[in-house]
Amino acid sequence: MKKEVKKELTKDKKTEAQIEKLVKKLTLDEKISMVHAAGLFQTGAVERLGIPSLKCSDGPMGVRNEFLNDRWIPNGNNDDNVSYLASNSALASTWNPELAYQSGQVLGAEARGRGKDVILAPGINIKRGPLCGRNFEYMSEDPKLTETLAVPFIKGVQENDVAACVKHFACNVQETDRLMVDTIVDDRTLYEIYLPAFKAAVQEGGSYSIMGAYNKLMGTHCCENKELLDRILREEWGFDGAVISDWGAVHKTKEAAEVSMDVEMSVFPDFDDYKFANPLKEAIQKGEISEKVLDDKVRNILRMMFRLKMVGKQKETRKAGTYNSPAHREAILHTAEESMILLKNEKKKLPLDKKKVKKLVVIGQNAAKIHSDGGGSAEIKALYEISPLMGLKTYLGGNTEVTYLPGYYVPDKPKTFDHNWQEKSLDELENTDIGVAVRNPDETLESAKEREEAFRVEEEARKAQLEKEKQLVHEKNKHLFEQALAAAKDADEVIFVGGLNHDYDSEGFDREDMKLPYEQDILIEELLKVRKDTILTFIGGSPVEMPWREQAETILWSYYAGMETGNAFAKILFGEVNPSGKLAETFPAKYEDCVTAKNGQFGIRGSITLSEGLYYGYRYFDRERIAPAFCFGHGLSYTQFTYSNLVLKPEKGKDKEKVVKVSFTIKNTGKTAGAETAQIYIAPISPKVDRPVKELKAFTKVKLAAGKSTKVTISLSEQDFAYFDADLHTFIADAGDYEIIVGASCEDIRLKGLCTLA
Ligand code: BGC
Repeated sequence: MKKEVKKELTKDKKTEAQIEKLVKKLTLDEKISMVHAAGLFQTGAVERLGIPSLKCSDGPMGVRNEFLNDRWIPNGNNDDNVSYLASNSALASTWNPELAYQSGQVLGAEARGRGKDVILAPGINIKRGPLCGRNFEYMSEDPKLTETLAVPFIKGVQENDVAACVKHFACNVQETDRLMVDTIVDDRTLYEIYLPAFKAAVQEGGSYSIMGAYNKLMGTHCCENKELLDRILREEWGFDGAVISDWGAVHKTKEAAEVSMDVEMSVFPDFDDYKFANPLKEAIQKGEISEKVLDDKVRNILRMMFRLKMVGKQKETRKAGTYNSPAHREAILHTAEESMILLKNEKKKLPLDKKKVKKLVVIGQNAAKIHSDGGGSAEIKALYEISPLMGLKTYLGGNTEVTYLPGYYVPDKPKTFDHNWQEKSLDELENTDIGVAVRNPDETLESAKEREEAFRVEEEARKAQLEKEKQLVHEKNKHLFEQALAAAKDADEVIFVGGLNHDYDSEGFDREDMKLPYEQDILIEELLKVRKDTILTFIGGSPVEMPWREQAETILWSYYAGMETGNAFAKILFGEVNPSGKLAETFPAKYEDCVTAKNGQFGIRGSITLSEGLYYGYRYFDRERIAPAFCFGHGLSYTQFTYSNLVLKPEKGKDKEKVVKVSFTIKNTGKTAGAETAQIYIAPISPKVDRPVKELKAFTKVKLAAGKSTKVTISLSEQDFAYFDADLHTFIADAGDYEIIVGASCEDIRLKGLCTLA
């Protein structure tokens, strides 16, 4: 039996003494100024004692543009364009921890270069289903893959003297009703699925800060949640950094003050009225809240500041960072290249031969679309973004005739929000989003009813607007389809670039279905009739249904892959880069196949119960034997790999821990160099408790020249065999037989072996 050991993070004694000294010197007002925002992205400073304000910025795909301090209006200085990094979903598809580290390095350096202390990234929520609007900002459906990439990412960021702020803690699995929704989850699921990446972020990544999520967890808002913030985060995991609230996630002064929530941020300019501003000060003065809780918060903030070299003598040695460097762009290109996923290449149509393509027709709006400026708080002001069309044209040069046709119509959406969308989104959500009944103590039943009615009316208007848009798309498409089909007939090659955009992949709302918008399915079917060999490529942040996938010969998928997307795209299509991305999430054939479609516990307001427990994503498809369109871990290469010689060796690790050494050989049997990600799943043979058929526990990505082979050795720890026993509140690795499965994907199993855990 493996008891979970509480990890004591080592605090530096000298720093702790300095912190104590400062805490003693700080007045109540000064302490209060440190624990709440004094600007949309910064806290108050205490200049008298050399304590600067804490400057934060979003987010995962690059450092966000500068706003005025108290309004969501860009300051307009035009010195805040930055490198646009691959989204976390793209990064995860590389299955490459080294690239995660490099991405962290780039983001950290850029954040520091822009004078920031905390970068509000990475987003590491688990993708429970395909429709969550923010999935593009998250890594994977699998906890192991998420944690393996999150840890080096955080280290990369923090090596630049900038704090990572892992978000959104915890179980922030949908955008619908995001400020109020209550996530109900059992302990086992929580500990096995939704917490491990956060735990690793804290204990292995050493994240200096963590963001408390908007939602409720088991009835209590995350930022007021004793169980989550005190017991789990502080006591079990030993976290001694700062908890920062999501922007507007603190609702009640006393409740939030009396748990380990340190910094209250929000979206409104009335900073003195924040819960941790005057209300907290007055409550302390009246003796309703002990000043000790404030001191603890200040300690956590100061500890982070010391680590970031923001205070004390070490300030001189703090890294300066930089942004927009050629080295950053190089790293971003590399990540983009490894992130794209070749889903299908049946007739080996790819790679194309540059010399043979004289007339290329490119169809589809995502060929020319720029994505960096959308998605919600992840939006950035990119220095540049190479679209696929631009990438193809610059790659091919003037000897190839490249014709672009939009193919389908995308309604020009006047942004539903002005620059102030972030404030409004919170305002509206708070006031109009529906609850089953009264949602807070200040609300009367009457006003709750009014709120519901207002919401209903708004929903109806929104749906009517959508219907209108669909109609418009339908009308405009007639002509655009004709144009595209005519051009396709007459080309050497046809590349379709479709998919989603940030009208779909976005903060603040979830997708309604998994279908490609703008009648793309109809166009694709027609295209495949005139050109069966159309190369279908997509850019999007989350899975889509592909009802035509059997007829299609070639499918390439890219998540939002950063400023160099177009260059990576061209290099892959023309074989200068061999694709090596693999899916970090299941691509279901249709949404109805997903467990959230069956149990209905997604996208509803009020509360959602994760009643599927461990069985979502591949764990669900495996158990139910439902074939997805493309399974977790899938991704092709232009070369082939064979796997052989599996050897399993039980050994004793340090502290006599039981470990199993797994080794096998991978050979590149094709004619081109390539990279392969081997995935190791563990399948208990006769488990004492209900367990998933198999679960990912390790993986490795190897790069091999044509004809070369390599021996891979990976150690599985006892923890890898364990499940969480909720009654005993501990992880247990039962003795017994386990199958070790080595796969090129979750379905493409190459080697199997049996091992016994004594
Ligand atoms: C988002 C966070 C983001 C914050 C600050 C919130 O709306 O949920 O992820 O970091 O805003 O922009």
